[in-house]
Amino acid sequence: MNYLSPSILSADFWKLGEDIKAVEGAGVPWLHVDVMDGLFVPSISYGMPVLKAVRPHTHMFLDVHLMIEKPERYVKEFASCGADLVNFHLEATEDVKGCIEKIRATGKKVGITIKPATPAEAVEPYLELVDMVLVMTVEPGFGGQKLIPECLDKVQVIRKMITEKGLAVDLEVDGGINLDNVQLALEKGANVIVAGSAVFKDDIAANAKAFLTKMR
Ligand code: DX5
Ligand code: ZN
Repeated sequence: MNYLSPSILSADFWKLGEDIKAVEGAGVPWLHVDVMDGLFVPSISYGMPVLKAVRPHTHMFLDVHLMIEKPERYVKEFASCGADLVNFHLEATEDVKGCIEKIRATGKKVGITIKPATPAEAVEPYLELVDMVLVMTVEPGFGGQKLIPECLDKVQVIRKMITEKGLAVDLEVDGGINLDNVQLALEKGANVIVAGSAVFKDDIAANAKAFLTKMR
């Protein structure tokens, strides 16, 4: 099953609710929430209050991407603010297993994420323990960047690992995905597609529908 997860980082915050309703109305199942702390990545975005404000107004699956140092400090709060899945970077913690367990204890789904320079093999020891792997296809920190094609080769490697182990782990790509390269990402084995700037511009509902059509 393929899922589109539009990133609200590229939404218009003056009318965030309206932008979210536009994608939900188009039939989009997931929503991607990027949290940045200015340490793990150079920029600062938003956090718990925004998630908490969105939660009661949407049925979409809230896919929270933590780009923060020592994510274990905050997973409980993000879970209670309404995340359905909490995703953290392997590079951001010294205790990956501990962080996975902390998220599990909240009853929410667990995702692990790797930056472009981190090899595919880094996720292998944790595949049995998680619901999703996110492969960054740009350096995390900003929307609107160009996809790094080599990152899609890692998607292919990880999809093979998941299949060989007989697991039902979702595989997400994030960064620089647009209507021209989404097909390639799916072919490489991704089944969850994050798109920020390609969805939240001009006619948002039409953009979302165009993605959904390509992802069928
Ligand atoms: C980047 C974020 C992405 C970003 C994607 O650090 O993790 O989710 O919003 O934006 P686009 O689709 O514009 O590359
Ligand atoms: Zn993201």
